[in-house]
Amino acid sequence: MPPADPAARAARVFVEPGQVFPERLDRLLSEGFAPTAAQPPPSGWYLALDRDGLVLRNAEGEAPFRPGPAPIARGRGPMAIARACGARTGLTVLDAMAGWGVDGLALATAGCAVTMTESHPLVFAMLVDLLEGRAPHVPVEFQDARRLIPSGFDVVYLDPMFEPRRKTALPGRPMQVLRDLVGRDAPDLEEILVLARRHAGDRVVMKRHAHARAVGVPDWRIPGRTVRFDVYRPSA
Ligand SMILES: C[S@@+](CC[C@H](N)C(=O)[O-])C[C@H]1O[C@@H](n2cnc3c(N)ncnc32)[C@H](O)[C@@H]1O
Repeated sequence: MPPADPAARAARVFVEPGQVFPERLDRLLSEGFAPTAAQPPPSGWYLALDRDGLVLRNAEGEAPFRPGPAPIARGRGPMAIARACGARTGLTVLDAMAGWGVDGLALATAGCAVTMTESHPLVFAMLVDLLEGRAPHVPVEFQDARRLIPSGFDVVYLDPMFEPRRKTALPGRPMQVLRDLVGRDAPDLEEILVLARRHAGDRVVMKRHAHARAVGVPDWRIPGRTVRFDVYRPSA
């Protein structure tokens, strides 16, 4: 479980000389992220500040990226995820692989009491910044999902990185940047599913490519054109 080491939190935020450090990043600092005026790294993505807040910059010339507010939860996608999770007011949901928070925010907007976990330091930092001051409030923890799953949520929602598929269009930019940062593997997925089924009060939901193989044996599925939701009952 990589983020167990608190030093891993110290993802550095590169602050250019003369930049004002916005107050809204206090929380980020309290999470252990460290501002520095040093030179950014020679390769890859790094956290920086501009006048709008945190931004991901790329040392190899890719355009800067910030995820931006999640789209308003309307249409078939959010409805499918809400059905899959049995969303209702007060249902506790662990969005265990939060990424840019789009799915978790859709569930929070549907009334669920959502907690997010994210294990990648740069993704986590951007997510904290994105969620700051938003309603409904969604707590987000910098943790491996396996540490929070045993806390006992009604629903554990899993959205691992998809395996790359041939003959498909490139994913949108947010997902491309996420792939660049995180990679594509989810080697511990079966173990996480077993743990989630042991501790979820109501169900475990896993998002998959529409035609990808299932992990384990889902109890039912909510199909879709590009993605589907596999639903598992608790094992206990
Ligand atoms: C496909 S993305 C999730 C996208 C997200 N559903 C959204 O709406 O933006 C998967 C995310 O899970 C995170 N992740 C993978 N394994 C994890 C784990 N064991 N614990 C916490 N986060 C994990 C990755 O860092 C990545 O950001």
